[in-house]
Amino acid sequence: NQGIVIAIDGPSGSGKSSTAKGVARARDLRYLDTGAMYRALTWWMLDHGVDVEDAAAVAALVEQPVIEMGTDPSAPTVTVDGRDVAAEIRGKDVTGSVSAVSAVPEARALLVRTQREVIEAARRESAGIVVEGRDITTVVAPEAPVKLFLTASPEARAMRRSKEVRTSDVAATQADLARRDKLDSSRAHSPLTQTADATELDTTGLSLDEVIGLVVKLADEAG
Ligand code: C5P
Repeated sequence: NQGIVIAIDGPSGSGKSSTAKGVARARDLRYLDTGAMYRALTWWMLDHGVDVEDAAAVAALVEQPVIEMGTDPSAPTVTVDGRDVAAEIRGKDVTGSVSAVSAVPEARALLVRTQREVIEAARRESAGIVVEGRDITTVVAPEAPVKLFLTASPEARAMRRSKEVRTSDVAATQADLARRDKLDSSRAHSPLTQTADATELDTTGLSLDEVIGLVVKLADEAG
């Protein structure tokens, strides 16, 4: 597994984050949650009173915040200008605005560049890394030896996300996931797309351990 890159894409609630972290822990790899980077950038925009629907305003400011990611899968961290924002970026405000920010080409260009630097740093140190998001298999690391596209039924995804954010309103969660799916899949720049060279894994009827086991097997075969 020395220096291996495992790229995982999929919609929210498909099990990407838990799977990516579990695989990284199982094989002592680093872990990068690129969604957290878009969320961190969105948090900064909201904190600075920027209208996130104003793409030009967002584009003009993307270079301002310093976003740093800790890549230990057992304790991943995300800071903006030195402040720990791990909890705040999971809140309603950021979740409601992140698709608008992530549709801005300048925001994507900047974060993709940072993501590639993190991957390069891991490879230089022969560490290996699991990277998850929406455009990892297509844009950020299309050359990765292991590429996966995780899916699950809308109901299963809504159940999982509801548990994560501790709400009993599964219907509202499912509606929010559908809204973000639509925005993330239909945007002009690097939309969430499934390509033929990524292995599709439908996690609907599988436990987390089963999914992790399958991905670890693929990684071992590749690396
Ligand atoms: O994975 P998560 O739900 O935290 O991602 C939050 C949002 O960040 C997504 O809805 C999407 O708009 C954006 N995103 C993206 N490209 C990535 C990862 C996330 O556009 N690689």
